[in-house]
Amino acid sequence: MHVKQNSKIATKSSSTRTVEHVAIIMDGNGRWAKERGLPRLAGHRAGTDNLRRIIESCVELGIKRLTIYAFSTENWNRPKLEVRGLMRILEDVLDNQLQELHENNVQIHHIGRLDGLSERLANKVQSATSYTRNNTGLVLNVAFNYGGRDEIVHAVKRIVAEGYNPEDITEETINRYLFTAGQPDPDLIIRTSGEIRVSNFLIWQGAYSEWHFTSLYWPEFGPEELRKALDQFQKRERRFGMISEQVS
Ligand code: IPE
Ligand code: IPE
Ligand code: MG
Repeated sequence: MHVKQNSKIATKSSSTRTVEHVAIIMDGNGRWAKERGLPRLAGHRAGTDNLRRIIESCVELGIKRLTIYAFSTENWNRPKLEVRGLMRILEDVLDNQLQELHENNVQIHHIGRLDGLSERLANKVQSATSYTRNNTGLVLNVAFNYGGRDEIVHAVKRIVAEGYNPEDITEETINRYLFTAGQPDPDLIIRTSGEIRVSNFLIWQGAYSEWHFTSLYWPEFGPEELRKALDQFQKRERRFGMISEQVS
């Protein structure tokens, strides 16, 4: 992936100017593989290839922030072999694609917990985030070992440990202690594979996100599909509890 954000592309992105933050539940790798008579891990590999294409289009489209759900706190309950394979895939991506992401000015963040990962993998995640820290292009939040409930528990524990007076706790306080502290909420959350559920993803931050559901499996959800989802998003009216006349 060698993408240049040229002015022509930047102009194109004016059609997506209100989409600052896109989040994706990359689901359906297993079924994609099964339908092709392949092992589930082949589906995860295909999913990783697709992610590369999607990151590339986000850079081209000038989207500022992309959050991807790669491994949930509940995914630990999958068969050991699959869990091991998913850890391995993250490690491979960090080993083989970090430089390219860096050259494309991508800033990598991890959201979720590092504990539970092997020390080697945790170190690689940390070095990827510090290596790309000063990049100013696409912010890529990698939700790995992430769960929305776990994130809230983690935030509450820290707030209590810091001795907050209950009267002083606001929504802003909670925001500051989430893994996404300092980041805007997702405008659009996409879920592939036909499932219509949240599966513990950004349950606080997604309070007013728009959703896009598609029956395509994640490896099939290419840049063209992303563009379609963004186009549909442009046509929606976000009311945030108000009435149409107030927001238009
Ligand atoms: C999403 O694909 C990737 C992860 C959850 C890691 P799945 O592995 O959930 O694929 P399906 O839903 O079984 O098809
Ligand atoms: C959500 O997908 C997690 C990721 C995509 C990483 P799952 O496949 O784990 O979700 P459920 O179990 O179908 O709800
Ligand atoms: Mg799934």
